[in-house]
Amino acid sequence: MQTSTPIDPELLRRYDRPGPRYTSYPTAPQFSASFGEAELREAAQSSNGDPIPRRLSLYVHVPFCLSPCFYCGCNRIITRDLTRADSYLARLYREIDLTAGLFDRDREVIQLHFGGGTPNFLSPAQLREVVDTLRRQFHFSDSPQRDISIELDPRFISPADVAELADIGFNRASLGVQDFDPLVQEAVNRIQSVEQTVAVIEACRASGFRSVNVDLIYGLPKQNQEGFARTLDTVVAVRPDRIAVYSYAHLPELFKAQKQIEAADLPTAEAKLGLLQLAIEKLTAAGYVYIGMDHFALPDDELAQAQARGGLHRNFMGYTTHSDSDLIGLGVSAISHIGDSFSQNPRDLISWQGAIDDGRLPVFRGMRLSEDDQLRADLIQRLMCQGEVPVAALERRYAIDFKAYFADSLERLQPLEADGLVRIEPDRITVTSQGRLLLRNIAMCFDKYLDKPVAVTAPRFSRAI
Ligand SMILES: C[S@@+](CC[C@H](N)C(=O)[O-])C[C@H]1O[C@@H](n2cnc3c(N)ncnc32)[C@H](O)[C@@H]1O
Ligand code: SF4
Repeated sequence: MQTSTPIDPELLRRYDRPGPRYTSYPTAPQFSASFGEAELREAAQSSNGDPIPRRLSLYVHVPFCLSPCFYCGCNRIITRDLTRADSYLARLYREIDLTAGLFDRDREVIQLHFGGGTPNFLSPAQLREVVDTLRRQFHFSDSPQRDISIELDPRFISPADVAELADIGFNRASLGVQDFDPLVQEAVNRIQSVEQTVAVIEACRASGFRSVNVDLIYGLPKQNQEGFARTLDTVVAVRPDRIAVYSYAHLPELFKAQKQIEAADLPTAEAKLGLLQLAIEKLTAAGYVYIGMDHFALPDDELAQAQARGGLHRNFMGYTTHSDSDLIGLGVSAISHIGDSFSQNPRDLISWQGAIDDGRLPVFRGMRLSEDDQLRADLIQRLMCQGEVPVAALERRYAIDFKAYFADSLERLQPLEADGLVRIEPDRITVTSQGRLLLRNIAMCFDKYLDKPVAVTAPRFSRAI
């Protein structure tokens, strides 16, 4: 995908409507309670059947945070009581025990990621214990490509702790920043200095972390061009390998803490677009490559390199270079992708704990993908990662006549083509530089489920911009 991005504000505004982020297809609202423990066991068992054992990715969710950021849309529990980690970890170890037995020992773990909430709510000693437990129960790959990554809140970790994480085996970190502007920080209840953030980034580097990511958000209350420009300049000066610039998803009905945000403080749609434009200009000028869906990387980072050779993938953890692995999600709300199935753990702590205390795998919903789901998932993945749909390759792989099979989708895509978001040719559909900012709108044309809305009481998806 190219990086030159002449933004057409009128066009972007027109396409700024709610849509999924496609970290999975079908998306989580399609999961159903009819997929339970028995189905998960069956999916795990059949996933062991490949002649070449498929590798594993592990995700561990740590839900706790010390302080509530008002914008937050993550599954988290705010507490100052550090002892809550103990009972959580006791359950997590039982879940690991119940789960590991389902997978053949010869299946190598190529990726382990800790997300949250705030994984560094756990002390380095506790994180070491979790990693050691996983190492005992699973077979970790010795490959230099193996990743152990963690989301860090820089407000609550010291450089000495970072060195200990490196000693445990962590080699990638993702730091929450959002904005350094003091007015914005106050409005979102997250006071975080440049100094403490830079200290953590430098500690990661000094300890040999392979890559450091920084999360920013545009569209936050009180955000403006001047302040955000300063934030971008500050971040770029430290040269993190990756920078995520998320669009603020304001869904106060879904995320109660967001009710603390004054609607009047939010930038207008136009101002928000200006912030995105600013981020793209500054980051590309500083040499970052736009990967797609809010993510930028330095050209020598593995994500940018993987994209250049067609080896980029996307899963619940975001973009990744690890293809063809089964994902095992552990902890409250975690999602697994095993073979042709998705499944999710309960999103509330009580239900997750209850299932484990009963000796059950804590799955509360999921789905088995049909052949049609798999084909569309593959297509959407290629759109999100490579910015194109290789028509002939999909026809060969799935034995379909693309034009006939996707007649509805192609019709839906017509106005997007007329607006210059995609180019449709007989052998490929290519996302244009304008379309790269509207990847989810393009993917939505291929989403079979958007026509069949499920019952909802609150908006499920954030807006495209
Ligand atoms: C689990 S948090 C990161 C780790 C750690 N808890 C922290 O905040 O430093 C993941 C990221 O999600 C993003 N995020 C959270 N709520 C969001 C929202 N409502 N809209 C857009 N991005 C959001 C933030 O950029 C945040 O850094
Ligand atoms: S942004 Fe991070 S630290 Fe803040 S509430 Fe959300 S998960 Fe917790």
